[in-house]
Amino acid sequence: MPIHAKTVSQNGSLLLTPSHGNGSAWGKANCQSCHSMRRLHQSVPKIKTIVDKKKFATCTGCHGYNGAKQTEPQCLVCHNPKDMPKNPFRTGKHRHDFDSSKDLPTTSRQCVVCHAASNMNGKFEPAIDLTMFKDKSDTETPYENQNEFCLRCHNRNHQQTKYSIIHAGSRNEAIAAEDNYRAIDKHGLTQGTSDGLYNGLRGGYNYKTVVDCVDCHAMHGSENKGLIIDDSRKGAFLLDSNIRNKPYAVKLLEADTNYSQLCALCHDMKTISGGGETDTGNGLSGVHFNDGSDCVRCHSHGEQEQKGL
Ligand code: HEC
Ligand code: HEC
Ligand code: HEC
Ligand code: HEC
Ligand code: HEC
Ligand code: HEC
Ligand code: HEC
Ligand code: HEC
Repeated sequence: MPIHAKTVSQNGSLLLTPSHGNGSAWGKANCQSCHSMRRLHQSVPKIKTIVDKKKFATCTGCHGYNGAKQTEPQCLVCHNPKDMPKNPFRTGKHRHDFDSSKDLPTTSRQCVVCHAASNMNGKFEPAIDLTMFKDKSDTETPYENQNEFCLRCHNRNHQQTKYSIIHAGSRNEAIAAEDNYRAIDKHGLTQGTSDGLYNGLRGGYNYKTVVDCVDCHAMHGSENKGLIIDDSRKGAFLLDSNIRNKPYAVKLLEADTNYSQLCALCHDMKTISGGGETDTGNGLSGVHFNDGSDCVRCHSHGEQEQKGL
């Protein structure tokens, strides 16, 4: 007979609380002394398969630290390139390691900053799978979309004290994101029109679609500077799956100022002009080159209204 999960639940939270084992089991780090592997997780076969394989090293990954303060969270024991290579894609030397001046090694502690209590049900739900950070009025307002999660840290005056931004100047998007997102950037607010000179979008995207930060920035690993995705499967979440899963590589060219391969994932001008027939280098075309290949000059975060990002 499997033990019934009284307090943990995939519909709520898997984290153990002080009522664990009627209080007698809280604070204990050695799970093996009371639980037998064979009996666990009968109602969740997918979880059972991998936990049975990876054993007691995994428990804190899903059920938390059980009040045993010195216990480390364990995520990488499963979420590694060998066992779960696509969930998430973690290739590339740059990661969102909370320090843009270095490439720190990835640790499970970094994962739980953003995913404090994931329920591992195979579905990514921002309300459950992303850590709730307080907004500028010190309130846990639910996220309207994924961008808001990023903006709870990437702002000027209400950063999270334990993860404040120290290596970025005041015009850097790491600090300016909240202003730009509301005021200028074309992608964060739905203000695009289909009558621009080079207009046209690929399947899955339309003018007035909110584009998320993570459509362009990879949290879990990229070869590109600024954590720009290096593979279509790491972002562009709404893109038609036959394009997204092909997959298309994204390389930044010419000293990182030409990111046409990123833009061409979603943009594909309807009426070809301005060099729109030119292959960006990854097999996709449809963006203009008549203004030169230094795209940053006109299209960067916080650029003037007409162009922007
Ligand atoms: C001292 C014995 C003991 C230890 C050590 C122990 N547990 Fe438990 N655990 C229990 C008991 C007793 C229950 C409740 C069983 C029941 O309700 O029938 C339980 C229930 C659970 C549940 C189900 C949730 C719930 O609240 O009913 C989970 C999940 C769990 N334990 C995980 C762990 C993990 C992870 C560890 C190691 C960090 C651990 N346990 C260590 C005794 C223990
Ligand atoms: C990948 C996530 C994950 C890991 C790792 C994990 N569990 Fe669980 N555990 C779950 C889920 C999901 C449930 C089912 C909750 C529900 O019923 O909705 C569960 C339930 C339980 C229960 C309650 C009844 C049951 O289904 O067995 C116990 C006890 C338990 N886990 C102990 C452990 C122990 C001990 C470990 C380490 C060997 C562990 N778990 C590792 C996800 C995990
Ligand atoms: C800076 C915040 C942040 C950090 C750090 C982070 N993640 Fe994520 N994670 C996200 C966001 C946002 C998403 C949703 C967008 C996406 O899939 O990239 C996500 C999605 C995921 C998914 C779902 C992927 C899918 O395709 O369904 C998994 C699994 C995951 N993260 C695991 C991890 C693990 C493991 C770590 C530690 C190595 C980690 N994350 C570190 C923010 C983060
Ligand atoms: C025992 C292996 C195991 C461990 C340890 C583990 N996970 Fe998972 N995780 C899974 C499985 C299995 C899934 C579901 C994958 C699927 O069904 O596509 C998952 C899914 C996820 C997702 C996607 C959202 C969801 O609800 O499915 C996130 C985010 C995630 N894990 C983060 C973490 C973090 C953070 C840790 C460490 C605190 C962690 N995982 C520890 C096995 C594990
Ligand atoms: C808990 C706070 C926090 C959250 C949430 C967060 N970040 Fe960050 N982010 C940081 C910190 C801290 C840095 C490093 C700044 C520094 O070095 O001073 C950073 C750096 C970055 C960088 C620059 C990295 C580099 O190496 O160049 C990007 C891009 C970024 N974040 C994007 C995002 C996106 C997109 C999200 C949402 C999915 C997000 N961040 C969520 C705190 C956060
Ligand atoms: C000298 C400034 C300048 C440079 C450099 C520049 N662009 Fe543009 N781009 C513009 C202007 C202006 C528009 C808007 C035209 C309009 O709204 O009618 C535009 C529009 C776009 C659009 C949006 C099309 C739409 O309406 O959906 C994309 C995508 C784009 N540019 C990609 C690029 C790429 C890729 C590069 C680098 C290879 C680049 N641009 C370089 C000025 C520039
Ligand atoms: C993940 C898909 C995606 C990627 C990648 C992407 N865009 Fe966009 N872009 C969109 C969508 C969707 C809109 C319309 C948003 C709206 O209505 O506010 C848009 C709008 C724009 C606009 C405003 C057009 C208008 O009519 O006002 C410009 C300029 C633009 N993008 C430039 C770029 C550049 C430059 C790149 C590469 C750095 C890029 N985009 C990458 C999806 C994307
Ligand atoms: C359409 C794609 C796209 C979207 C959406 C997007 N970015 Fe960016 N981001 C870029 C590009 C391209 C650059 C490099 C050019 C620049 O600096 O503006 C960049 C640069 C950055 C940088 C500076 C990194 C460095 O190395 O200094 C940060 C931080 C950042 N973005 C955060 C965000 C946040 C937070 C969001 C969501 C609110 C977001 N971005 C949404 C494409 C995007």
